Amino acid sequence: MTSPRSRISKAVIPAAGLGTRFLPATKATPKEMLPVVDQPAIQYVVEEATAAGLTDVLMITGRNKRPLEDHFDRNYELEDALRRKGDTERLSRVQASTTLATMHYVRQGDPKGLGHAILCAAPHVGDQPFAVLLGDDLIDPRDPLLTTMMEAQVEHGGSIIALMEVDPDRTHLYGCAAVEPVADGVLRVTGLVEKPDPAEAPSNLAIIGRYVLDPGVFEVLGKTPPGRGGELQLTDALQTMSTDSALGGPVYGVVFKGRRYDTGDRGDYLRAIVRLACERPDLGPEFQKWLRTYVAEEMPTIG
Ligand code: G1P
Repeated sequence: MTSPRSRISKAVIPAAGLGTRFLPATKATPKEMLPVVDQPAIQYVVEEATAAGLTDVLMITGRNKRPLEDHFDRNYELEDALRRKGDTERLSRVQASTTLATMHYVRQGDPKGLGHAILCAAPHVGDQPFAVLLGDDLIDPRDPLLTTMMEAQVEHGGSIIALMEVDPDRTHLYGCAAVEPVADGVLRVTGLVEKPDPAEAPSNLAIIGRYVLDPGVFEVLGKTPPGRGGELQLTDALQTMSTDSALGGPVYGVVFKGRRYDTGDRGDYLRAIVRLACERPDLGPEFQKWLRTYVAEEMPTIG
């Protein structure tokens, strides 16, 4: 347990998953590097962390994830080539990812679940509260969820999870929370179940991939047995923490009502690209024009 007022500066981003839903694209490319418009998905997540004031990012990686490190590192050859061509705009976009935050990497080794990935962060994080951002969830930059969660952590202490209402027939895809109201916009989490069968879902409030955790989570994870799918589940550790403030609880929930894209899902990945492309000042006007014509002329013939 730490003082609720400890400053949060570290973000942990688990990125060791295999990306099987995107095979064969992810056979030799990490799923986190798939482009959303012209920027890899993972860069949006790191930008979200830094926009919330986090300056130290630890990525939990694994085999075949070297491109992640390269993306956030300098590429002098490419930079020189762009400089010689006088392409200052692309040069600054190429350099942007290298100056976002201080990047650190640790390899997970065996992929034994999200809880195990978080446990790999223990030596780096130490005894301060920290944020966790799951790479599959893109939160629209105009909806600053993480900042709200960090403020809630400063005010209430304990650990904070992001929740979102989902259709009851989708609760089996998420960790689900039982809650009771505490204060404006903040709920007390009284129970959590990882990917419940529909009859066992405590509510339709699903955990989305943002957490602000008390470092007590590491000790709890160390004692948590494998759960759903035989993996060490972060949700199970949070369930334990929700029952005992000496273990890094209480656990609070902030309900997110903004724009979120699950880029781990092919349909949502496509929707994210279309929406973000439409909103881009450089691409949007032209793309929207094409999209309108496409929908008007081609859609009636589909399905
Ligand atoms: C993980 C968590 C789950 C959470 C989800 C959010 O599951 O285990 O509790 O609801 O992220 O995206 P995953 O989607 O990695 O299977």
